[in-house]
Amino acid sequence: MILAIETSCDETSAAVVNGTDILSNELYSQVKKHQRYGGVVPELASRLHADVIDYVIESALSKASVSLGDLTHIAVTSGPGLEGALMVGIAAAQTLANGLKIPIIPVNHLHGHIYAAEVSGELKFPLVVCLASGGHTQLIYMKEDLSFEIIANTMDDACGESFDKVARMLDLPYPGGPHIELLAKDGEVVVQLPHPIKHKPEAFSFSGLKTAVLQLTQSDHEYSNADIAASFQHTVADVMAHKLSLALDNYSANQVVLCGGVFANQYIRGVISDRLDGASCIVPPLHLCTDNAAMIGLAAAQYLNRFSKSAHFIECNTRLGVDFPKELQ
Ligand code: KG4
Ligand code: ZN
Repeated sequence: MILAIETSCDETSAAVVNGTDILSNELYSQVKKHQRYGGVVPELASRLHADVIDYVIESALSKASVSLGDLTHIAVTSGPGLEGALMVGIAAAQTLANGLKIPIIPVNHLHGHIYAAEVSGELKFPLVVCLASGGHTQLIYMKEDLSFEIIANTMDDACGESFDKVARMLDLPYPGGPHIELLAKDGEVVVQLPHPIKHKPEAFSFSGLKTAVLQLTQSDHEYSNADIAASFQHTVADVMAHKLSLALDNYSANQVVLCGGVFANQYIRGVISDRLDGASCIVPPLHLCTDNAAMIGLAAAQYLNRFSKSAHFIECNTRLGVDFPKELQ
């Protein structure tokens, strides 16, 4: 019975997870507080996490009808993320773990995004993951559970970051992704946008695409913002589908996992699953694509399966509990 805590960016979340069962998944979103600055303000994020973390944890326990004494482990996101924001979750996890005398499981946030897909069906290895969030864009080859070989990475901006920046150019609020998706429904894919480093299987690049949209918005043009949003979104889907097909030429895989906040986008999910004919595609349910603690609990359950005898989980108080088992570094 794992209490999971996630505070890596602008969502304060706590969940109770038992094996692969999610008993609760509470979330306080700070988005409205950051919106007027056009992006996440790290210092504000830390303070807001500290304000609500106790309440969010209590609420997760009560929704799951679980008491502190029932918990066997505390899982917490230990990175990557905003340093100060992470510290709030880690401090809460440490306090509880020390009081309850149970181990902490430090969880890599990206592993959480991947294991959120387990809720949609069984993971069939070997598989290729496409992870696209506000901070990362990667293709990862997984031969088996908890084996991560990064086969492509972004050279510049993350995919979600390009959504957020393009949204700003179109006068849409932060976070840009959902607003672009909504606006794109009223537009047509009519603008030709670049597809940088198209033939490089090991790299993504989104900054050129972003700059192309900027130059377009600053030029004399006849397109509506909805057309620009639709064309940008389509280009991103095309880039992702293309890089995935290159990866599948080089790696034999039984499944493709799409995960991270960008795959909350129904249009992009649709384009990619249509283009991957043959390969089966699995995506977390919408509410588990963006940051949440349940995904951290699911990854922690996997760590436990593999490393439950590891001294690491017993010696849980070293360096704020943020050291990974060596095998996962
Ligand atoms: O995974 P996530 O919640 O947080 C990080 O780990 O970064 O991803 C957040 C990112 C933001 O950049 C946001 O604009 C993007 O995911 N996003 C979307 C959509 N919903 C969130 N991008 C495109 N379409 C969406 N519907
Ligand atoms: Zn995330």
